[in-house]
Amino acid sequence: ARVKRLRLRPRVCGPRRASLPWQCPPSPASPWSRPPHVVFIMTDDQGYNDIGYHSGDIRTPTLDRLAAEGVKLENYYTQPICTPSRSQFITGRYQIHTGLQHSIIHPRQPNCLPLDVPTLPQRLQELGYSTHMVGKWHLGFYKRDCLPTRRGFHTYLGSLTGSVDYYTYHSCDGPGVCGYDLREGEKVAWSQAGKYSTHLYTQRVRKILASHDPAAQPLFIFLSFQAVHTPLQSPRSYVYPYRQMGNVERRKYAAMVAAVDEAVHNVTYALRKYGYYRNTVLIFSTDNGGQPLFGGSNWPLRGRKGTYWEGGIRGVGFVHSPLLRRKRRVSRALLHVTDWYPTLVRLAGGNASEGLDGHDAWAAISEGRESPRLEILRE
Ligand SMILES: *[C@@H]1O[C@H](CO)[C@@H](O)[C@H](O)[C@H]1NC(C)=O
Ligand SMILES: *[C@@H]1O[C@H](CO)[C@@H](O)[C@H](O)[C@H]1NC(C)=O
Repeated sequence: ARVKRLRLRPRVCGPRRASLPWQCPPSPASPWSRPPHVVFIMTDDQGYNDIGYHSGDIRTPTLDRLAAEGVKLENYYTQPICTPSRSQFITGRYQIHTGLQHSIIHPRQPNCLPLDVPTLPQRLQELGYSTHMVGKWHLGFYKRDCLPTRRGFHTYLGSLTGSVDYYTYHSCDGPGVCGYDLREGEKVAWSQAGKYSTHLYTQRVRKILASHDPAAQPLFIFLSFQAVHTPLQSPRSYVYPYRQMGNVERRKYAAMVAAVDEAVHNVTYALRKYGYYRNTVLIFSTDNGGQPLFGGSNWPLRGRKGTYWEGGIRGVGFVHSPLLRRKRRVSRALLHVTDWYPTLVRLAGGNASEGLDGHDAWAAISEGRESPRLEILRE
């Protein structure tokens, strides 16, 4: 008897034009009737070897599980330091288009993300999202118009500078030039001091989730942890499991990563509890490579934060979502931190055709198609 053969040919990106053999047809606009909630979690200075599934000495059971159930991004790049990376994430543009290619923005510098460049949260607001930022900004604050609340976020709680004390929120820009850096919206949040920032920020996310109706409006949360940047501080309980670790800096650092892991557990718990989870895309990403002078590790990659070696710019990242078509995968598609802007705007049902450097990478992430990108600009 003749057996009908099953046709299981996946749809691959065919050669559309001889000159552009890699070009894929555009992925369809948001395939969901309701645009997804987006939770973007960024850590600071977390290196390649600083997440459980890459590491021999750091344990992150929650991150490992979420990544294993989703798609691990194993060819993903960022910039080597904070401000340029964060500017690229939020604008979808290379730093050479925003003038932020030189260094970080220092606290006393009259500089910020150019006000005429649209931001991802602004675009998501236009598409009907409620947008919230929690944590480190580091894109300038010398005038009001630079603040997160003027750049697309309905609410903000966090620190505007590059690094602060995890409990007191004090920050110094050189000897004698110190201040308190924790804001609620556009006001100084004096009353919140004393709480470890990873806890404070996680609690804030839970409050945002609890006070929204997931069926009524899509939500975008940018949870930008201060962890695991210096200073190396964490509650003692997180250090205890690492008490045998010989390198004291690494011990403290591992504890800070553990607090982040617990925080992400709490965030996903809240996503489920309050009814968001099934329609949520959760993205986890570092902002740049780790700093081995202060406990981080990029092994086996060469270099560190601040360098253009792989260890400085290879990002740790994954996407976890029930909306992924092909889950439990490692993606080796070339991806870049500028890609989140067009990817998320498209997921939200918008179009991102305004001359961005990023590419819509959803088909590559969700379906395992080829990356729309062939190269990245580094310097
Ligand atoms: C996670 O939630 C538990 C229970 O509410 C809490 O004790 C813990 O401090 C939270 N952890 C973080 C990092 O927010
Ligand atoms: C995308 O948006 C721009 C304006 O933001 C508009 O001019 C253009 O027609 C849109 N393209 C599509 C395919 O909707």
